[in-house]
Amino acid sequence: MTTTEVREAATVTDDLSVWPASTGRLPHGGLAVGGVSLAELAERFDTPAYVLDEGEVRGRCRMYREAFPEAEVLYAAKAFLSRAMVRWVREEGLGLDVCSAGELELAVTAGFPPERIVLHGNAKSPRDIGTALRLGVGRIVIDSPSEIARLAAAVGAGVGAGVGAGVGAGTDGRQKVLVRVVPGVSAGGHEKIRTGTDGQKFGLSAGDGSAQHAIARILGQPQLDLVGLHCHIGSQITEVKPYVTAVRRMVGLMAQVRRSHGVALRELDMGGGHGVPYRPGEAALDTTALARRLRTELVAGCAAAGLPVPRLAVEPGRAIVGPAGVALYRVLAVKHTGERVFVAVDGGMSDNPRPALYGVRYAPRLIGRRGAADSRTATVVGRHCEAGDILAADVPLPADVRPGDLLAVPVAGAYQLSMASGYNLVGRPPVIAVHEGTARLLVRRETLDDLRRRDVGS
Ligand code: LLP
Repeated sequence: MTTTEVREAATVTDDLSVWPASTGRLPHGGLAVGGVSLAELAERFDTPAYVLDEGEVRGRCRMYREAFPEAEVLYAAKAFLSRAMVRWVREEGLGLDVCSAGELELAVTAGFPPERIVLHGNAKSPRDIGTALRLGVGRIVIDSPSEIARLAAAVGAGVGAGVGAGVGAGTDGRQKVLVRVVPGVSAGGHEKIRTGTDGQKFGLSAGDGSAQHAIARILGQPQLDLVGLHCHIGSQITEVKPYVTAVRRMVGLMAQVRRSHGVALRELDMGGGHGVPYRPGEAALDTTALARRLRTELVAGCAAAGLPVPRLAVEPGRAIVGPAGVALYRVLAVKHTGERVFVAVDGGMSDNPRPALYGVRYAPRLIGRRGAADSRTATVVGRHCEAGDILAADVPLPADVRPGDLLAVPVAGAYQLSMASGYNLVGRPPVIAVHEGTARLLVRRETLDDLRRRDVGS
């Protein structure tokens, strides 16, 4: 590496633009988030650990409410869910998007109003549907033809048995539903998270008539109340344009429904997918611009088609919680192999499978001490037993990184712990909330005892 490269690399690591807004520099290379020193957190709670800035989550919820004053903002629970998260989202006035009985049950038992919850899923189990009806979930998003009769039967059976009479079922006992439509728009940060076109498992195609067919069938079910349409074109989208194309197509389909059935649908849920930067300089979706364009297109499209304007909904997950999280790791080993330097930490693909799954790049940073002035390119790897266990390939780190050091990875709040696994029986890390100078444990570390207790055979 030349001297210029060294200097450039050093500036890159000093950039805090993708860190929570509360992040502050402490003396001797320390960093504080939510008013709490990350090095102190590592001492107190051990590593690996996930730190969640409550103020950042709440601030992002508020930003969405302000950007979308007339729309319903549903937080996508799959990004990360815990009881505290449920409370913050509720207190900030958002709704919730869940995709399993587990997420739903956690939310409702933590006090989230079921009527403000939407249930998704391309393959809902009998338990998912049973729980949704029992708890009175607000809306269920139909994702396949076979679900229609199954859901209608469950609602029908439930009403008599006192099930399905929750708020979501409406006062008339009918369950409110949306249809997930594939609008034929390709968008998203990686092929595995693009869901807007045919040829992937989600939704019903507007192009081949499957969506129209499902709509007709739902309208024929007295137990179901079709309130609107839904689409989710993909995730980690950084441009407004694909949403504009999608909303036009969705309004077109709403007009078709009105012509064919005389029904004006009341809701249009445009899903989530709002992209965030993981490293300084990366693109982010402009939420305010998105809100403005969606509103303009919706109003204009509906006026042209003679439709009443439906209530808009959006479902951000990553953009609410991703930038609020920081992962903390301890360096266990540093190895020089040929040209490469491997910095191995005490976590890895079991707490963050995203680099392995989507090739995502992160920007880890040495914390807790001021490293050497010169930097070198290193690859941060995990502790798991496979070569693909890479957390951050070819990143600049101080040249003197050594075992015992602490590394922090920003933008760690979404789809890391929620996708964590039990690989190598390492145990999943704890989640610590920081807020206004105090830290508290939200989710404790998974211990060997936890893992042993599930293992009931011999
Ligand atoms: N609504 C629906 C119906 C969804 O399927 C998703 C995400 C969202 C909303 C929220 O999307 P977001 O705003 O968070 O992008 N594991 C991947 C992301 C998978 C997203 C799945 N669905 C990752 O780590 O990037």
